[in-house]
Amino acid sequence: MRKKITIIGAGNVGASTAQLIAKEGLADVVLYDIAEGIPQGKALDIAEACPLWGSAVSVKGTNSYSDIKDSDVVVITAGFPRKPNMSRDDLLHANADVVKAAAGAIAKLSPNAIIIVVTNPMDAMAQLAWKTTEFSCRRVMGMGGVLDAARFRTFLAWELNVSPEDIEAMLLGGHGDQMVPLPRFTTVKGIPVTELMKKKRIDALIQRTRSGGAEIVGLLKSGSAYYAPAAATFQMIRSILHDEKRLLPCAAYLNGEYGVKDLYVGVPVILGKEGVEKVVEIKLAKEEKAMFKESCVSVRKLIKKLAI
Ligand code: APR
Repeated sequence: MRKKITIIGAGNVGASTAQLIAKEGLADVVLYDIAEGIPQGKALDIAEACPLWGSAVSVKGTNSYSDIKDSDVVVITAGFPRKPNMSRDDLLHANADVVKAAAGAIAKLSPNAIIIVVTNPMDAMAQLAWKTTEFSCRRVMGMGGVLDAARFRTFLAWELNVSPEDIEAMLLGGHGDQMVPLPRFTTVKGIPVTELMKKKRIDALIQRTRSGGAEIVGLLKSGSAYYAPAAATFQMIRSILHDEKRLLPCAAYLNGEYGVKDLYVGVPVILGKEGVEKVVEIKLAKEEKAMFKESCVSVRKLIKKLAI
């Protein structure tokens, strides 16, 4: 039997993720949204593309939570996107209500699902989803690091005039502004970028990566990025459903790892059929440790505001 993936929120990120899943024939897809007609219309459109992609999966749009029953993976993208001059944190309370409702429905209807949270501020929303569902922390995670790494890889590829595919980037910490880059673990086919570029240029690209989301918000004027966020989410889903055990930076629950307790924050993890199968601990340099600590303080502040 084919696997079932539910996407909660049929907006830009949700629909783009559904498109990638359907095109790849990865699983049947349910698109849920509160807005009437939107998930149905987008699902129908994607279903009508399936013959052209040679894909036989089912794609269904719905406004009823009962349709998410027995999903293997649920992606939460529902909420409100950032507007220009709005930080991810401004979204905190509005999106917390949406994520709480979604997590409650998942716990009831898909008690064995693995959840990927995309809604911002993502690290805090992942913690909220985990608390609400009371699932094992292995089965709840957030998407952020894969996207930040992809942005960094893009800018490095442009700068070095090499294929982005040959660039591997690892990073830690909260998504976006709070990310902690690890240039010494960022390589072009194994060669650390620190050997290929001056520190000043690396720092400039790190800064562009940190504000990568805001750069797109500024250009779009309304709405935020969605092609790369959907591609990043898709990579995580595939690693889970195909049990690929990819090593990817994701927001995961830390229970002592990296000296942090009871907090969701970005770290390298192994993603497989059980979800977060392992948090990979690497020895951080002094400066990296300090940045990671700062990042954790920012995420914890949001958790305090949410009182969870
Ligand atoms: N239940 C279900 N869906 C909801 C709810 C709700 N309570 N509230 C809002 N939505 C839906 C909206 O109707 C909309 O279709 O969530 C969708 C969000 O889509 P977009 O506005 O297009 O936002 P998108 O760009 O997809 O971003 C979604 O991902 O990257 C993050 O910051 C981004 O938090 C945002 C999320």
